[in-house]
Amino acid sequence: MRNGVNKIVLVGSGAVGASYAFALLNQGIPGELVIIDVNKDKAEGDAMDLNHGLPFAAFHLKIRSGDYSECKDADIVVLTAGAPQKPGETRLDLAAKNTAIYKTIVGEIMANGFNGIFIVAANPVDILSYATWKFSGLPKERVIGSGTILDTARFRYMLGHYFNIDTRNIHAYIIGEHGDSELPVWSNSSIGVVPIKEWMANNPQYKKEDLDDIFIHVRDAAYEIIEKKGATYYGIAMGLVRLTKAVLGDEHSVLTVSTYLEGEYDQEDVFIGVPAIVNRNGIKSIIELNLDHEEKDKFNNSAQTLKDILKGLKF
Ligand code: NAI
Ligand code: 2OP
Repeated sequence: MRNGVNKIVLVGSGAVGASYAFALLNQGIPGELVIIDVNKDKAEGDAMDLNHGLPFAAFHLKIRSGDYSECKDADIVVLTAGAPQKPGETRLDLAAKNTAIYKTIVGEIMANGFNGIFIVAANPVDILSYATWKFSGLPKERVIGSGTILDTARFRYMLGHYFNIDTRNIHAYIIGEHGDSELPVWSNSSIGVVPIKEWMANNPQYKKEDLDDIFIHVRDAAYEIIEKKGATYYGIAMGLVRLTKAVLGDEHSVLTVSTYLEGEYDQEDVFIGVPAIVNRNGIKSIIELNLDHEEKDKFNNSAQTLKDILKGLKF
């Protein structure tokens, strides 16, 4: 923080990063935003373009491009730099390439005296959150991966559409890897305060097969969008702004983020998506859902998938 003003540094001004900057400006978060990209022209061009929207913005956000020296007094560094998936690639296919990039990026950030909170979005996000934590040496609470925040949003949107209920009144989580091994937590899902199972029992027109189908669409949404338009960025950009607000506003919000487990969910030494309370210090605490037997198995399988990838990487 500089002179009481929130300062955010964004590293990576590609599709996700630039959409995040645009969403930040539109959602009225006052402060400073510094954009860094290996492609300096892109960062500079985005800063110019965004500044031209300022006369129409609800709050003033000072936007400029810059370099890693800007990280010294930043409150938050948002990491969206890195290679995205090509059609047909999984997120985990990017692990080695992006971990190597993160060694350099996080090294530069820390060498410049950063002492704030990382929000990591690049893929595979659970692996890169772990890498960011290792490379930075910061306490685990201060590295927040976007985890399954987007998958949970997709899930709530699709369930809201199916049940014809405001998506904000759907309380349901996707947990696990942000990727193919993720899982829905049906045992803890509700519409308002009514458990989904009870809602279904009272409304027999809704079918379990449809719910299974909804989850498949959630899990595979990114593949579908990447096939159609090459990348996904608006949904995650808004999710990252939600996380930024939760931190800067000390909101104590419950969000499904990638965080380090040390015994929670009977797992350790892995970053993975679970509901957690997010405040000004980062991850305040992890919420341990009471998973049923099948969900526990799927969660363990998801954690193992990530651990197997971690084993093959150098930190
Ligand atoms: P992009 O290719 O449009 O942008 C990546 C940006 O990173 C480029 O501007 C590039 O110049 C920059 N960059 C690359 N190496 C760099 C370095 N060493 N230092 C600084 N900047 C560097 O990619 P896009 O679509 O923005 O995706 C970015 C990442 O976000 C990908 O890994 C993608 O898979 C991930 N993603 C994650 C989501 C999530 O839910 N967590 C959702 C959507 C994308
Ligand atoms: C997404 O889920 C590709 O991780 C990205 O949209």
